Amino acid sequence: MTTPIITKATNILREGGLVAFPTETVYGLGADAANPDALQRIFAAKERPYNHPLIVHISAIKNLNDWAREVPETAIKLAHAFWPGPLTLILKKQPHVSDLITSGQDTIGLRIPKHPVALQLLQAFAGGIAAPSANRFTHISPTTAMAVQEELGGKIDLILEGGLCEVGLESTIIDVTRETPVILRPGMISAQAISALLGMQVALAASEAEIRAPGMHHLHYAPNTAAALIAKDEVSSFLQINKDPVAIVIYSEMNMPEIPNVHWVKLSDKPAQYAHDIYQSLRSLDHQQFKRILIERVPDTTEWDAIRDRLLKATGGRK
Ligand code: TXA
Ligand code: MG
Repeated sequence: MTTPIITKATNILREGGLVAFPTETVYGLGADAANPDALQRIFAAKERPYNHPLIVHISAIKNLNDWAREVPETAIKLAHAFWPGPLTLILKKQPHVSDLITSGQDTIGLRIPKHPVALQLLQAFAGGIAAPSANRFTHISPTTAMAVQEELGGKIDLILEGGLCEVGLESTIIDVTRETPVILRPGMISAQAISALLGMQVALAASEAEIRAPGMHHLHYAPNTAAALIAKDEVSSFLQINKDPVAIVIYSEMNMPEIPNVHWVKLSDKPAQYAHDIYQSLRSLDHQQFKRILIERVPDTTEWDAIRDRLLKATGGRK
């Protein structure tokens, strides 16, 4: 049965409008993937440059061929293992796919999200829904409907409510067009889990934030308040010299002295829980009048890859 709100959302999409909807990763800003005018509206609402391609969301594995002209065995395996779920497959596109989706490349990103509202919408719409994260370009992705309202309210036709996103970080993106798949964006489905499934070592492409020359940092996934990374053993000396109102976001056990101007946020030392909470925490800190947000560096282990990647981008690697 289709609920009235899903019917309304479907009608908006058919008319070329924009509908923000929840997924298990972050909220997406959806438009009919087959309607170039609707796709243009996504870029306008987000103030996003055209050289950033869009992910197309579908509701069933059998729809892969509507968008991808080649679906290798590795893609089928990954889809069956992880969909619906936080994984985006990069595949060779069908000729009809708009350049607005692919940024003129020969490939397309596809995924089936794991959220009942997203799946109801996709099934009722019965087509592909192009959806980037529902934030203004370079901002933090929204993990609640309220955060979408804050980012894009007034610029979109409808926001579907779906609670707090379960995963909290954007999907893992894997390019399966090459002999050996490459992870283009780490996510909570790890390189290890993918390598184990495929029986081959799958590498992580060097993160842009890591390879970019110092001083050339382009912030992405960033709060408005200046954010920087800090190592656990630098915290106490920082506190001695600091005079500004600051927030310090940590995950490890440490002394949290009550000092004027210092607001502590303790997140989980478990990566899944940390990922679930980090964007929401940064967004809430952004509403307060801190001069800076300091974020404790997370471990170098693979289970923290996605989190480390987003924190590097949110801080431009600043110390
Ligand atoms: O979890 C997610 O993936 C969320 C939810 C809404 O599904 N979406 C999301 O979309 O994070 P967006 O647009 O914020 O990030 C999509 C990323 C971009 O960095 C883009 O460059 C990359 O996917 N991408 C999309 N199509 C691609 C392609 N054909 N080749 C390489 N990268 C692609
Ligand atoms: Mg995004």
